[in-house]
Amino acid sequence: MEKKNIDWSNLGFGYIQTDMRYVSNFKDGAWDEGGLTDKATIEMSECACVLQYAQTCFEGMKAYTTEDGKIVCFRPDLNAARMADSCRQMKMPVFPEEKFVEAVIETVRANAAWVPPYGSGATLYLRPFMFGYDSVIGVKPANEYQFRIFATPVGPYFKGGIKPLTLRISDLDRAAPRGTGHIKAGLNYAMSLYNIVDAHEQGFDENLYVDSATRTHIEETGGANIIFVKGNTLVTPKSGTILPSITRRSIVQVAKDYLGMEVEEREIRLDEIDQFEEAGLCGTAAVISPIGKIVDHGKEITYAGMGPKIQKLYDTLTGIQMGRIEAPEGWIQVIE
Ligand code: PLP
Ligand code: COI
Repeated sequence: MEKKNIDWSNLGFGYIQTDMRYVSNFKDGAWDEGGLTDKATIEMSECACVLQYAQTCFEGMKAYTTEDGKIVCFRPDLNAARMADSCRQMKMPVFPEEKFVEAVIETVRANAAWVPPYGSGATLYLRPFMFGYDSVIGVKPANEYQFRIFATPVGPYFKGGIKPLTLRISDLDRAAPRGTGHIKAGLNYAMSLYNIVDAHEQGFDENLYVDSATRTHIEETGGANIIFVKGNTLVTPKSGTILPSITRRSIVQVAKDYLGMEVEEREIRLDEIDQFEEAGLCGTAAVISPIGKIVDHGKEITYAGMGPKIQKLYDTLTGIQMGRIEAPEGWIQVIE
């Protein structure tokens, strides 16, 4: 199969329309057969529930070309399970988890020419999502839904690739206690848009949110979880209002089982973050992005950037994803 003629190494994190996407519709209480289409646009009622009341959730995952030329996905079963959780909370029908994984495989296979080559630094980003499709004017869930997966080749999420990030402690909130911070609902991202534009205008790469109830604990950024390192210990926030990142859960296992690190998953106080030596953001898009500085209202806390432990975690995680390091059982879904 011939790859598309793309300057893979210079891709940013943007949308490029690829050949095929997967679509399945839910109507009269059931999902249809589902399948691939080349139609990249969607036509719907002006009163669709997603347009009026933001009834939508999504996932983010990647396909990689491994060192030995296979195309693989990383832990798609966990994305399927998390999307099911999001759907339950948003009163949307669950797309069956096994079918989700099959649909991911079909979508990647149909776009194999768009999967960036090994060593290019780029990957194929997959965006499964679901939305309320039919007309709703009173506040209630839709009756009809569409599930879709599109693929787009991407480079690094943050501009400039792997350069240490500067975050600010946010004055605004992203997630409320007993709200939707723990699921991947579009509404969480809508409410972060004002703040991310403002952060960029003020020269910051991202907002680091604190818990909105007490404003004393570290949560996450708008699109990634956070990890800290002190000595041989990895420390990462435990909170009911952050997204349960699949990358973070994998890093925790890598730190323990591959690197012999201690791991603490616990509440992290804002007033202790100056005790850590290294810090990074983690997520599908962010991979592990080193943090150089966190600014808390004029107080600057600096970290080692791509320090030795963050580098080791990055090398091991990406080594597993790209087939250079043996993966734990069940982590790698071979597509072809
Ligand atoms: N936190 C938020 C708010 C996110 O949007 C993401 C991205 O998916 C993550 C964390 C990282 O999650 P994952 O590692 O599953 O991609
Ligand atoms: C991902 O990492 O997949 C996300 O959904 C985060 C988003 C900010 C791009």
